[in-house]
Parts: sequence; C-alpha cells; structure tokens
Amino acid sequence: MIRQKQAYIETFGCQMNDRDSEIMGQLLTESSYLLTSKMSEADVVIINTCSIRGKAEEKAFSLLGRLKKKKQKKPSLIVAIAGCVAQQEGNKIFERMPHIDLVLGPQSIYRLPELLKDLEKNKHNKTATEQSTSFSIPAFLPSLKDNLIPHKKFVTIMQGCNNFCTYCVVPYTRGREVSRKLEDILAEVSHLAAKGIKEITLLGQNVNSYGLEKTGELPPGGTSFPDLLRAVAGIEGVARLRFTTSNPKDLSEDLMCCFTELDNLCPHFHLPVQSGSNDVLKKMNRKYTIESYLEKVAKLRGYSPGIAITTDIIVGFPGETENDFEATMDLLEKIRFHGLFSFKYSDRPHTRSNEFSDKVPEEIKSKRLARLQSRQEEINMERNLEYVGQTLKIMVEGASKSAEGQWSGRTGSNHIVNFNGHSNLRPGQILEVTIDEACLHSLRGTLI
Ligand code: SAH
Ligand code: SF4
Ligand code: F3S
Repeated sequence: MIRQKQAYIETFGCQMNDRDSEIMGQLLTESSYLLTSKMSEADVVIINTCSIRGKAEEKAFSLLGRLKKKKQKKPSLIVAIAGCVAQQEGNKIFERMPHIDLVLGPQSIYRLPELLKDLEKNKHNKTATEQSTSFSIPAFLPSLKDNLIPHKKFVTIMQGCNNFCTYCVVPYTRGREVSRKLEDILAEVSHLAAKGIKEITLLGQNVNSYGLEKTGELPPGGTSFPDLLRAVAGIEGVARLRFTTSNPKDLSEDLMCCFTELDNLCPHFHLPVQSGSNDVLKKMNRKYTIESYLEKVAKLRGYSPGIAITTDIIVGFPGETENDFEATMDLLEKIRFHGLFSFKYSDRPHTRSNEFSDKVPEEIKSKRLARLQSRQEEINMERNLEYVGQTLKIMVEGASKSAEGQWSGRTGSNHIVNFNGHSNLRPGQILEVTIDEACLHSLRGTLI
C-alpha cells in the first residue's frame, strides 16, 4: 500500500492566520495529504507566520531555523513558510534560509496544492507572494467531519487593510482591502449553521470598511457592514454572532444600532484605542481623537448597556512622553475596559514609524507596560466582581482548563465561566448560570 503523504501546519498570529491554516489544511486533505499533529512524521511542514511585532517574527524564524537539521536528515522534506513574514520577506528568505522550499503569501494560499505538486516534480525553491488589487477571495465551503463538529467558527469577510497606521505592518503583508462577496459569506455561514455550528465570528482587519474599498463609499446596491451583520444574524441556527476588529474611526451609529436590534449579536466590542494621547494618535495616523473615542463609547453603551468593551494599547510609541503615557493611564479610569491587550512598541519593516527618530528606550517601555497592566488587572477584577449575583447565559465550551472536573462556558460579553455541570453537557449548548465568584481571568458560577 502506498503511504499517504503527511502535512504538518503550525500557526502563529491572529485569527486570520488560524482561518488561513484551516483552509490550507482542507485544501491539502482534498488533494490526498493527511494532516498530522506530529512534525516529526511530516513530509511537508508549513509554518504560517505573523510579523506584527519583532517577537512574533523571531518565533517563526527560530522554528524555521530548527527545521534545517530535520531537512538534513530527511532531504525529501518540503518546508514552506506562509503568512505575513512570508509576504514581507519574499525571495529574500532563501538567502537567510536556503532550506526553505516554498514562500506563500496570504493571497496565494489557495494555490498550495498546485505549488506542492510542482515542487515534488521539480525541486526548485518557489515564491508565491503576488499581491493583486483585483484579487478576490474565492468561494470556499469548510469541510466538517460529522463526528467532529466544533461549536464555533471564524468566517473571513475581508482581507487586507488600507489604513496605514504608521506602526503597522499589516497593510504591507496583507495588501489592500478586499471584501468577500456577500453571497459567499452567507453561503459559508448557512453551511456552518446547518451543520450545527452555533457561534460565528466575522473576521477582518477593519470590518467596518466592508464593501467600501473601491471608493471609500458604498457602491449602489452594496451591503454595508451593519447590513451584513443583519443578514448573517438572520440565518437560522446562528445562536451567537461576533466580529473583530474595527478601527474606532469607522464605528458608525448604524453599527451601534445592531446591538439593540439583533438578539444574537454578542454584547462585546473590541475597539482598539492604541493610546490615550491625541499627539500620539496623530503620529500613529489613527484618524480619531480621544474625545471622539470617548463619545463613541458612551453612545455604544447607550445602545447596549453593559456591553463589554476591550481594547489594544501600544506603550512607548516613538516620541511618547510621560504626559502622553499618563493620558493613557487616565483613559483606563475613564473607560474601565473589560479587557486589554497591551504591547511594547516594536519597529517593523516598511512602516513609517520605523523611521521616526525619538524612540523610547526599552526599559521605559517595560516600566510603562508593567504599570498599565497592573492597573488594568485591578480594573479587570473590579469589572468581574460586578457580575457576582447576576444570572447570565453562557455557551458551553468544554471541560474547564483551570478547574478539574468542571465545565467552562463563555458569556456573550466573552467572559469565561467555570461551573459544576452534569456529564452529558455538550459544547455549543446555551445554559444559564448564577455567578458566585469573580477571579482575575474568569468567573465561577452555578448552573440553574
Ligand atoms: N486591525 C486591528 C489590529 C491588528 S494588529 C486594528 O486596527 O485594530 C493587533 C494589535 O497589535 C494592534 O491593535 C496593536 O495594538 C498591536 N500592534 C500592531 N503593530 C504593532 C507594533 N509595531 N508594535 C507593537 N504593537 C503593535
Ligand atoms: Fe494595522 Fe491600523 Fe490596519 Fe489595524 S487598522 S491592521 S492597526 S494599519
Ligand atoms: Fe500577524 Fe499578519 Fe495577523 S502580521 S496579526 S498574522 S495579519
């Protein structure tokens, strides 16, 4: 019997990369590969990389570096780099890492089987990093094994970004914004819902500009992001709907209305602010002010009282003064976010801020990050305590990771709740729990 070739995929970075890895995995299984979870058994190793900060890139390079030895032992091994570092480096990567066979940019993932066939026949390094403005995301239906239906899935609605925030590599690695066709998105969600998937998260770098990429305005007969949400929310079987991410500059009142209108739209909004200082926001090219951010948050809370707002913050952007940083600390008090992802500024290739002169020393960045995170931890705890005594709907996720013998679920506001449950619960079930206790990163509850 001929042994089926095995492929191993490792993924770094955001949900966009997770989804791309799933697509590559499906394309490979449809073209006779078997997916393996053991890198040592693989004939093809694909590293799907992220370049958002220096550390993410280093992780990818260190793993790729280790593959050199594996390839020396097994010369038939095919090593592919995909994702944002692949797009960023292109052909250059062969100089640094000649053991890599294939460089695959985000727009080229659909060509993976064809490129691998070519490589098997003719072992020449290949690069597929074209970025075309006429690229369209192909219609694609996820395959789901009947015995392994997950309870939630990501659906990509657009790729790329036109915003060019001065620190960000994404517009260079993912290219310009391309929105996926409405009918393809609806077909994918309907397919998932019909298979029993309960929660859908719509993905894009800036979902609010869905459909606007050609002229910055909606073309006649076009569908805006809020209308797309309404259409997806109306699909039978979609119990919960989420989306990520949106730039605050494009958050419209129509989108805020959706939180009042659509029962299945989860009351959680990830709204990256990046800094509390208008000077820094300007240098970042974010195109909003703190005043307008606060105003939007207040309005959003008017439409959806209790909505959980989470954010991203970069500390130590070039030129960030103590006063600028204090403005960010002050913003934490004004908004009291339900969660915060915070990062030290990192220079990235091609970006404008890379060239800015007044870089903040590493030790100051570290101090600011520690102070920010420590205050936010207190706020997280205070926020979590607000839920004690409340009865909340949760979706069962599976066995609890932190408490043995317990179940874990997620609220609409995206909080993890651990609870004692009976053995026949299933992921995707929606249940009610009363919250008894708040912990730093989760809640504890009792099933009703
Ligand atoms: N499209 C999303 C952001 C995706 S990147 C948005 O605009 O909200 C996720 C987060 O990484 C960003 O929000 C930012 O906080 C952080 N980030 C991006 N580039 C960075 C850099 N050069 N250094 C440090 N953090 C960065
Ligand atoms: Fe990067 Fe800004 Fe685009 Fe987000 S909106 S992906 S931070 S350029
Ligand atoms: Fe990283 Fe690319 Fe996503 S840089 S965060 S994998 S879009």
